[in-house]
Amino acid sequence: MPNSVGQSQIQQTLVLIKPDGLKKSLTGNILTKLSETKLIIIGSRVVCVSRELAEKHYYHLKDKPFFEDLILYIQGHYHKCERVLALVYQGANAIEKVRAIAGATNPEEADPTSIRGSYGRITTKGVYENVIHASSSPAESEREIKLWFAPQEIVVPLYPSKKVIKEKVEILEWT
Ligand code: PPS
Repeated sequence: MPNSVGQSQIQQTLVLIKPDGLKKSLTGNILTKLSETKLIIIGSRVVCVSRELAEKHYYHLKDKPFFEDLILYIQGHYHKCERVLALVYQGANAIEKVRAIAGATNPEEADPTSIRGSYGRITTKGVYENVIHASSSPAESEREIKLWFAPQEIVVPLYPSKKVIKEKVEILEWT
């Protein structure tokens, strides 16, 4: 639900710090770099990525030759680190601001001072290990945020939601 503030659009964007970012202890560096945007974080989760979630996230790339590598990479199988840090940033022109700091998708083409330019690499097999994912458009950010977060995991009301009563749902509680 974008709001106009002057010429700016208040947007949300999904950021994933990928398994290589976590494994290489780059989380702090990446968050510091992202803080240059002055955007606010409205959601955050450490996620163990299932194959189903990975395939849904990258569904539009299923015919690409690198699709299987992309799925194995985001699931952490290449880094023995089966988690990602998922974040939702919000603020004026959030999508463009985050993508500018993330840098080009191909780490070798990314500005050297960007996150991907600083920390990304292409493996000898040709797989992009580009450390971070950032939504590419308002439609994609909404789709991705709804995929990675439940309404109650975002600290502001974002998209229309409804209350449902679920019975016989098994959850874990601390003993
Ligand atoms: S973008 O950012 O969506 O416009 O970029 P695009 O070029 O469409 O790439 C989409 C995602 O595919 C990943 N990708 C690759 N992964 C592994 N190997 C190769 N060769 C490769 N080429 C592209 C790219 O990193 C994008 O994923 P995210 O998570 O957005 O970085």
